[in-house]
Amino acid sequence: MSLVEPGEPATLAAAVRAAFADHYGEPPTSLGRAPGRVNLMGEHTDYNAGLVLPVALPHATYAAARARGDELVRITSAQEDEAWEGTLAELGPRTIEGWAGYAAGVIWAMREAGHRVPGVDLLVDSRVPVGAGLSSSAALECSVAVALADLLGLELTDDLRRELIEACIRAETEVVGAPTGGMDQTVAVFGEAGSALLIDFTSHETTPVSLDLAGHTLVVTDTRVKHALTDGGYGSRRADCETAAEALGVTTLREATQEAVDGLDDERVRRRATHIVSEIQRVTDTVTAFEGLDWDALGRLFDASHRSMRDDFEISCPELDTAVAVAVQAGAVAARMTGGGFGGSSVAVVPDERVDAVMRAVDAAFALEGFRSPVHLRAVPSAGASVS
Ligand code: GLA
Repeated sequence: MSLVEPGEPATLAAAVRAAFADHYGEPPTSLGRAPGRVNLMGEHTDYNAGLVLPVALPHATYAAARARGDELVRITSAQEDEAWEGTLAELGPRTIEGWAGYAAGVIWAMREAGHRVPGVDLLVDSRVPVGAGLSSSAALECSVAVALADLLGLELTDDLRRELIEACIRAETEVVGAPTGGMDQTVAVFGEAGSALLIDFTSHETTPVSLDLAGHTLVVTDTRVKHALTDGGYGSRRADCETAAEALGVTTLREATQEAVDGLDDERVRRRATHIVSEIQRVTDTVTAFEGLDWDALGRLFDASHRSMRDDFEISCPELDTAVAVAVQAGAVAARMTGGGFGGSSVAVVPDERVDAVMRAVDAAFALEGFRSPVHLRAVPSAGASVS
């Protein structure tokens, strides 16, 4: 069985500092930390001005930084073979290929927002599985943003946090070109230990929802089917949602009713909108179920959400369907796919004494189906970004 441990923050921070000094010949002056996330309910609802309910993971990315005396930017990662090097003037929309675009994009977006980010050396190291639907990209962006804020001597007030979130979203949507909705960056910054974060993308309010799991564990299973948010599937779902909103004469699907959606002519667009409208309602119901420790209701909500994503939004895959079905058979009270879809991870709420059995059952089912061996992690609800 393969379990990804988050590691001990102080140990990881020390390792990143040492790796930076080793690589660049001088120690870093700033270190930012930002977590990955797992979403409990509300998939693809963020860009429809809806509700989401993610949890920040204990698994995080660390970014070490040191200002340079010139215009050069150097970015390297413990996980990637290729480093990136260029000048501040080279940064901009769609100018940087590959993983470094997420980090360099933050420098560009912070400068666009008026912050005088200088030439800088950066080194990042991450415990967030990449391509697993657990927001390794937002963790990377937000860890860099926090490190740069520290480098500039800025205090992490709520206002600055909101500004950094915007910069990270611009890095992802404009520099990298992934048309995502903002949930990941918001929870990577505002997540709180012991809580999920209810985010309303109409009012932009964030409300921590204390999670008393009463003897249950959030088990995440990475199917290791790599998902990418830039390859068209995500963007085409978003386009379908916009088509539906336009046909209904509303600005976003947040304002649509199921009754109105039922009247849409195009069958595919109708199913996409049905997912969004029903999923937004499920977020509210999921908060109520967690608050009431109502595991039966939670099980029904997760099941309905998974079916909606599989059949109406069509973003699941055989590996995710297997992980979800087997987790429930092996004792999970609730399970669903999570994140953008087309691969990535599932999340299950599992009685503590069944955690091992659930992970082993999923491993066995994957072996039987001839799927790649999955990787599991325990999603202990953790704090958002900080300076380390
Ligand atoms: C990705 C995006 C988010 C959100 C989810 C689906 O994680 O980055 O903005 O749309 O997919 O809920």
